[in-house]
Amino acid sequence: MSNEYIVEMKNITKTFPGVKALDNVSFHLKSGQVMALLGENGAGKSTLMKILSGVYTRDEGYLKIFGEEIKGNLTPKSAQELGVSIIHQELNMCAHLTVAENIFLGKEIHSKGLLKDKEMVKRSRAVLERLKIDINPKAIVGSLGVGQQQMVEIAKALESNAKVLIMDEPTSALTTKEIEDLFRIIREVKSRGCGIVYISHRLEELQHIVDYVTIMRDGKYIAEGEFKQLPMPKIISHMVGREITEQFPRVKTQRGKKIFSVKNLNAGRMVRNVSLEAYEGEILGIAGLMGAGRTETTRAIFGVDHKDSGEIIVQDEVVDISCPMDAIKHGIVLAPEDRKKDGLCTKLSVRENIALANLDELCNKSGVVNRKREKEIVEKAISNLKIKLPTSEVNAASLSGGNQQKVVVAKWLARNSKVVIFDEPTRGIDVAAKVEIYNIMNTLKQSGIAVIFVSSEMPEVLGVSDRIVVMCDGKVTGSLITEETNQEEILQLATKFENKID
Ligand SMILES: Nc1ncnc2c1ncn2[C@@H]1O[C@H](COP(=O)(O)OP(=O)(O)OP(=O)(O)O)[C@@H](O)[C@H]1O
Ligand SMILES: [Mg+2]
Repeated sequence: MSNEYIVEMKNITKTFPGVKALDNVSFHLKSGQVMALLGENGAGKSTLMKILSGVYTRDEGYLKIFGEEIKGNLTPKSAQELGVSIIHQELNMCAHLTVAENIFLGKEIHSKGLLKDKEMVKRSRAVLERLKIDINPKAIVGSLGVGQQQMVEIAKALESNAKVLIMDEPTSALTTKEIEDLFRIIREVKSRGCGIVYISHRLEELQHIVDYVTIMRDGKYIAEGEFKQLPMPKIISHMVGREITEQFPRVKTQRGKKIFSVKNLNAGRMVRNVSLEAYEGEILGIAGLMGAGRTETTRAIFGVDHKDSGEIIVQDEVVDISCPMDAIKHGIVLAPEDRKKDGLCTKLSVRENIALANLDELCNKSGVVNRKREKEIVEKAISNLKIKLPTSEVNAASLSGGNQQKVVVAKWLARNSKVVIFDEPTRGIDVAAKVEIYNIMNTLKQSGIAVIFVSSEMPEVLGVSDRIVVMCDGKVTGSLITEETNQEEILQLATKFENKID
């Protein structure tokens, strides 16, 4: 019965220059349903949802929302008025405004030309309380953590009376506790009859909230069904178009010399007396919960942030690193966590992004780029990582989230490095691409490079690393051999907070 549907999309097509992002896609959503929209990076999930929420216009296709056929084009505002709200893959709040100002952005309450701040704060407080979220409506959004900002986005959607709530990878930057809060809120919103579209690459979390699944591949609709009726290997093979046998491929190598160590590193509050060692031909995992100080540690090592004290030792030599260029000179590279902010120049092309990281090798003495060599490096990087793009001349910003992440990783691979640090390299990356990234780490390891791998996902830390250092609250709380440990032990160390006396 089609009239049960609150959203009906049929034969939706959307083309970007050089890419058919959506090819005849159908999608249906019912009231009170949590729908997982799944597919590899670049499958077209975000594009489809941007069409539903009026961000993009469709080239062709039929769209019905709450039984009303939408003949023309939606705009973000008209979609919102119809009850469709989207929380984008990359958060986009106004960091300098307050929570209440963000919640009412574009629909401010006013009378006689004056904003009714008190009223907006009051209503924001009410919606936050309803969601049992402890955030001050007068707080500046930029001062909140990513998880809290996410909650504000949800509050914003609900305040505008959303009946279709789209969440595009909401958990990719949340802590375990925040994810629990999010799931509680999703259940609450669902019980009020809201339909929810949930996009995520963290397949293990779907079981907690999802009712129904729609799967896309290469811009096409592939399959749908009740979540409980679809075994995970089936979902994965629909997404990828083939079976994935080994989720965590492992290669055995002989551990070589110690080539890198950090001694008693201190940098601000989040890096306290951190020591660690990395060996040739080994993957060192750094585990911990979100906010454990791992990213800060990698940033201090790489010379992005100032170090208060401590030593960095490369091949038995204490090196002085006060900026990333120093680190790169000593053979240390970092693929950072926040690709949009730190990892990519989104306004430059993919070619330029990859070339930038390799300019020293590409330029002759007078600074002229060797185009032939550039082409080789860029093409190799793109094919090694199977980056999906029409040409390497497209802006990095136009790639799907996961493909952007691949560019961040790819640009360093051409270099002759001794230590490669990956900070959450698989965040937002689909199952097949994750395996590709693990394979890259394995290849680096086999070639004698020390790989350092920061990850919050326990199965992947255990599946990929040879040794694991666990951090909590800015300190190293344990150092383990992967074969001799398990998830429980890591979790215990990851939550080993000191009793703080404030
Ligand atoms: N604004 C744009 N300009 C040009 N191409 C685009 C644009 N937005 C998306 N694309 C292309 O459309 C295709 C689908 O992208 P989309 O972002 O919808 O994928 P996705 O399924 O959300 O992937 P991910 O899981 O990586 O977020 C990709 O090939 C992408 O490069
Ligand atoms: Mg997306």
